[in-house]
Amino acid sequence: MTETSWVAAWAPADGTARVTAAFAEHFGGAPDGVWSAPGRINVIGEHTDYNGGLCMPAALPHRTYVALRTRSADDGLPRSAVRLASAQEAGGDVVTVDLADVGPGRPGGWTAYVVGVAWALREAGHDVAGFDAVVDSCVPYGAGLSSSAALECSVAVALDEVHGLGLGDDAGRAVLAEACIRAENGVAGAATGGMDQAASLRCREGHALLLDCRDGSTRHIPLDLESHGLALLVIDTRAEHQLADGQYASRRAACERAAAHLGVATLREVTELDAALAALATLPDAEVVGRRVRHVVTDNARVREVERLLDAGDVEAVGPVLTAAHASLRDDYEVSCRELDVAVDAATAAGALGGRMIGGGFGGSAIALVLRDDVDAVAGAVAGAFAREGLAEPRFLVATAAGPAGRS
Ligand code: GLA
Repeated sequence: MTETSWVAAWAPADGTARVTAAFAEHFGGAPDGVWSAPGRINVIGEHTDYNGGLCMPAALPHRTYVALRTRSADDGLPRSAVRLASAQEAGGDVVTVDLADVGPGRPGGWTAYVVGVAWALREAGHDVAGFDAVVDSCVPYGAGLSSSAALECSVAVALDEVHGLGLGDDAGRAVLAEACIRAENGVAGAATGGMDQAASLRCREGHALLLDCRDGSTRHIPLDLESHGLALLVIDTRAEHQLADGQYASRRAACERAAAHLGVATLREVTELDAALAALATLPDAEVVGRRVRHVVTDNARVREVERLLDAGDVEAVGPVLTAAHASLRDDYEVSCRELDVAVDAATAAGALGGRMIGGGFGGSAIALVLRDDVDAVAGAVAGAFAREGLAEPRFLVATAAGPAGRS
């Protein structure tokens, strides 16, 4: 069998120790605290969030850690100065940004996800000052597992606590999620929808989060695959995906154009698919737009179907729903890519009950629902298929539903 590589999650104490030591090295002394936030998978409901729809993410045990200390009056720097270092950046140099200089497109790069959150909280009227922070992470970067949201959300819970904003309960976390989304949309320039931030801030250990993006309401659904003899295998295809590029934004724009043409606020309001497709027929690109709409409407229905199956304890039956979702993302929404298709096809051929790409697409990760005893064999089969197809070696992890962002 082909060799397989696995991405381990750090023990929380290790993540905390890493950033605490790096903080002392860069800034001297101890941080006010260490906070962390998870990456996520998504069981079902893709490209539905920005359409007011339904999705069902779950937090990963892989987290981003931030050691943070708020500005003190006597450190000689402006109160709005932020100094940052990331262990993920070659050289790990300290970057200094003034919160007064943050805005659309400024700064670029990874620091946007940190200072963007402080900026968004300030824009929302919260008294947030500058700070020193060091970040480190075991969430694979660029793997479609929400490393960006994990970074934003770790900073959000840290700033909430050091400034006593009182946003620690679920309603407060929804406010923090909004600030993180604003940072991503408004500063980093990625027109993403909000599922990732809700997952990182509002998930519950052992549960998937059924999120209704029309009104932000949630339901925690027990996701205990192990007791059913099952596991969710995550396949990081190593095909790096980018959300700040045109493909994601163009899908979102097509959906918004379709909703406007149909006279509804979002595609969530579309209940009669055939009637909607007939009404879209006058658009010059009716065929393509119709397929985009069909994906969104059918994926919302698949979320309800998975909810029903999980509630009924019929977990194995979720598999084919995942595979149907993959076909819809590949053929109707056209956000898959060769690596993702090979991953899903090889996993199902090797006995997975079903699988699909997750996240924005064009790279990143896929999930496969497999019998617990088949995890290694399915991973080996996928790695073998990648090798035969001349693709980069994939990496794997097994998703267990972990806890939300918080103090470490
Ligand atoms: C990315 C975005 C999310 C969501 C997914 C697709 O992960 O950040 O907001 O739109 O893609 O479901």
